Amino acid sequence: MPEAAGEPVVLERAAGVGGEMVLRRAGAHLEIIGNGVFLMDTRNGESERLLVRAAAEGLRGPARLLIGGLGVGFSLAEALLLPQVAAVTVVEREPAVVGWHRTLLRPWSRGALEDPRVTLQCADLLDVVADPRAGTFDALCLDIDNGPDWTVTPGNARLYGPAGLELLAERLTRQGVLAVWSANAAPRFEELLRERFARVEARPVPVPRGEPDVVYLARDPFPAARFPVTVSG
Ligand SMILES: C[S@@+](CC[C@H](N)C(=O)[O-])C[C@H]1O[C@@H](n2cnc3c(N)ncnc32)[C@H](O)[C@@H]1O
Repeated sequence: MPEAAGEPVVLERAAGVGGEMVLRRAGAHLEIIGNGVFLMDTRNGESERLLVRAAAEGLRGPARLLIGGLGVGFSLAEALLLPQVAAVTVVEREPAVVGWHRTLLRPWSRGALEDPRVTLQCADLLDVVADPRAGTFDALCLDIDNGPDWTVTPGNARLYGPAGLELLAERLTRQGVLAVWSANAAPRFEELLRERFARVEARPVPVPRGEPDVVYLARDPFPAARFPVTVSG
């Protein structure tokens, strides 16, 4: 009786694009594990909400946001509460995660996937930001990993390097802000942000135990790099 002993119980398993996806229940809460990495649970969500709120501070509406990925839906549900937000594109790589929002995770995303302001792209975020047809956004709110130094799959690390930041800068409007979630301070990533953006801020968010989460905010990219860069390879 694992649950009686306080142990998580596996509710669903699915083969995913980036490794096996598992949805577990632990008491009243649900947990998502991807590729063997604990990704998200329904316990708190304060820093995942701040990711969106901090990005939207000072944005003039009607604003267009991109959220990557969906997780348990805290960030997406928060975006839909903000009056200046007119449209949200949510990019999630794992079909299983999307499916769980029609069933077990629905109470946390509060039906957000059916909101007319929301467009879901079940795709790899790195492919989406590399495609100029994605257009530009007033905020890119990125939380696909446990942070720049702790990625769920090795390929995601490309997002946080100079080539990835170049593509992200291209996806921003003039008032645009890049917001990146991390489970810990990521000093090398902050340095790279400061090389590419004129205004960079790191906002620590205390958590009940351990190191604070950190939300990185970057605005005003410097003019584009002189040479084209790619995240492929
Ligand atoms: C930490 S959770 C997101 C938590 C979310 N902010 C919330 O409020 O619940 C990370 C999500 O990103 C997804 N993901 C991981 N790598 C991805 C990628 N390369 N492209 C798109 N989604 C990805 C995972 O499947 C997972 O659903």
